[in-house]
Amino acid sequence: MFQSLPAPNADSILALMQTFRQDPRADKIDLGVGVYKDASGNTPIMRAVKEAERRLFDEQSTKTYLGPVGDPIFSDLMRRLVLADRVDTTRLSAAQTPGGSGALRLLFDLVRYAGGTPTIWTSTPTWPNHLAIIGQIGMTSRPYRYFDPETRAVDFSAMMDDLGQAKAGDVVLLHGCCHNPTGANLKPDDWREIAELVIERGLVPFVDLAYQGFGDGLDADAAGARLLAERVPEMLLAVSCSKNFGLYRDRVGVAFALSAERDRADTQGALSTLSRTNWSMPPDHGAAVVRKVLEDDALKADWLAELETMRLRMLDLRRGLSISLRDAAGSDRFGFIAEHRGMFSLLGASAEQVRDLREKHAIYIIGDSRMNVAGLPEAKMDHLARAFLAVGM
Ligand code: LMR
Repeated sequence: MFQSLPAPNADSILALMQTFRQDPRADKIDLGVGVYKDASGNTPIMRAVKEAERRLFDEQSTKTYLGPVGDPIFSDLMRRLVLADRVDTTRLSAAQTPGGSGALRLLFDLVRYAGGTPTIWTSTPTWPNHLAIIGQIGMTSRPYRYFDPETRAVDFSAMMDDLGQAKAGDVVLLHGCCHNPTGANLKPDDWREIAELVIERGLVPFVDLAYQGFGDGLDADAAGARLLAERVPEMLLAVSCSKNFGLYRDRVGVAFALSAERDRADTQGALSTLSRTNWSMPPDHGAAVVRKVLEDDALKADWLAELETMRLRMLDLRRGLSISLRDAAGSDRFGFIAEHRGMFSLLGASAEQVRDLREKHAIYIIGDSRMNVAGLPEAKMDHLARAFLAVGM
């Protein structure tokens, strides 16, 4: 039976991670996969996370099952972190998931389970795994314009023109903050206009929030999701704790669905059924750690402080590289790097330039020219700037 399997569709991010690991050059620089790195190039376990793990080890008395939607206290703490009190909880369903991708998968499954043939509208470009998941479950996606390659900012009027063609019931996938891969983000006024469009045309917004706290701050990064949750009748929200708690491999996420109050029991029931058929129960360890951090004032304060240090460091790295590039290029054409927010910037380099960076300079960025800002080595900004110019960027 396996002869009829389709050829593997390699994920560009994971494939590059593998190539980087195999590169023997000592001076190689990894600006590929989206993981945070400190000044020594390590991806540390956050202090509060480590302490919560210690306490969990001492205090946890059983590993028995929790159930298909995981720990409702974890989900409610996450609801408070992401949506604060800006959502009607009598209309909100939730499920703990294996990471943000698990939340995306569960919520796309929910859309399909609800019947109908909605189109999923996705930004151009978007995170490759969005399109892979949508394709995998046999749903139809359509692109909306998002990134303006000239200004390196959001082309909001083009985005709204394209979404103006969406039909009632269609789903609009939005990046809550820190757009992946571009780094170009929607402004507060844009979110207001999106909310109006969604209500007017009967669309369902689906927010993917994977980088809360990495852009303009915990509250600012969730402002778009909060505004929608407050105003729209139905909404989907996938949240990841991979980045802001540094829990990547422990797979911690949560899926929220906002419905009419009369539909809530069915929506919560569907999340439970779909969870059961996908993975039966979500992994618990990482979510239990997040719960400990969020429930304990001192641990939470320490987590917030460390997260803020990480955010400010990424902003410094953005500024540092754009200054080195300004000095090397004698122009401000790389100024957009300091304007973007989050972990990524789409540099606008050609496939050949990306290849030359990798082959001639051992600098790894994703094939679409996405750079992971958190991987920038402080001491090598001028070296990077010279390499960018040497390959013709
Ligand atoms: C990324 O975009 O690099 C991260 O979200 C890691 C991943 O799973 O692709």
